[in-house]
Parts: sequence; structure tokens; C-alpha cells
Amino acid sequence: MEFLVLALRYIHLIGFAILLGGWLTTYLSGRLKVNPAMLWGSLIQVITGVILSAPLPRDVQPDPMKLIVKALLAIAIAIMVWIPHIKKRESSSKGHFLAIGGLVLVTAGVAVFW
Ligand code: HEM
Repeated sequence: MEFLVLALRYIHLIGFAILLGGWLTTYLSGRLKVNPAMLWGSLIQVITGVILSAPLPRDVQPDPMKLIVKALLAIAIAIMVWIPHIKKRESSSKGHFLAIGGLVLVTAGVAVFW
């Protein structure tokens, strides 16, 4: 069971890398179109995050309020990533794109500092 928790956390961290890496690559390219890494990364984070939120065996259980805040942030990120994709937008505004990256960094900050 302990291995399962560690494996989930590992996939959760890889999802974070995929999401932030996809976002940064596109932002630096100057063509602000949501890419598959961002789409997959946002889904992986919500799915692995929800499973990790179960009362799994570990020394200290995460604060439920922290998990609710993280869930709301991650859902907002997923919506902001998926809507332009579903609407087949060729590009998003700079403000929209910066907000996605900012929310990803805030969510990681909540995970680490709270
Ligand atoms: C973009 C979205 C997300 C990002 C960037 C993110 C980031 C992170 C990071 C960096 C960690 C590792 C913290 C550490 O080990 O010290 C972590 C752990 C964790 N995250 Fe997320 N997360 C996201 C979404 C979610 C969601 C939606 C949930 C559930 C509601 C969630 C629940 C958890 C839990 C429970 C852990 C702790 C794992 C453990 O200690 O066993 N995360 N997250």
C-alpha cells in the first residue's frame, strides 16, 4: 500500500512536470495555442490528485481544506485549458495564458507550503 501511495505521488509529480513544461514551451514559442501536454497534464493532475486525497496509509494526512483549495484550482486550470481546445481556438490571449501558468504555480505552492 505504501508503494501505491508513492507511485501515485510520482505520477502526480510527472503530471505537474507535463503541465508546466507544456505551458512554458508554448509560452516561450510566442504562439499561445493550448497543446496536448497541457491537456493531458491538467487531466492527470485532477485524477491522481483525487485518488491521493483518499485516506491512504501515511504518517500525516493532508489538511482537507488544502485539498479542497487544490481541487478548485486544478478544476479551474483544466477548464481554462480544455475550453480553448474544444472551441478549436488557434490561439489564446496573453492574459488567459499567463493566468493558466500562474494558477499552476499557485497550486504547486499550495501543495508545498500549506
Ligand atoms: C495543477 C494541479 C496540481 C498541481 C500543480 C499539484 C502539485 C502537487 C505537488 C508539487 C505535490 C507534491 C508535494 C510534496 O510532496 O511535498 C502534490 C501533492 C499532493 N497533491 Fe497535488 N497538485 C495538483 C492538483 C491536485 C488535486 C486536484 C488534488 C486533489 C484534490 C491534489 C492532491 C494532492 C495530495 C493529496 C498530495 C500529497 C501526496 C502525499 O503526500 O501523499 N493535487 N501536488
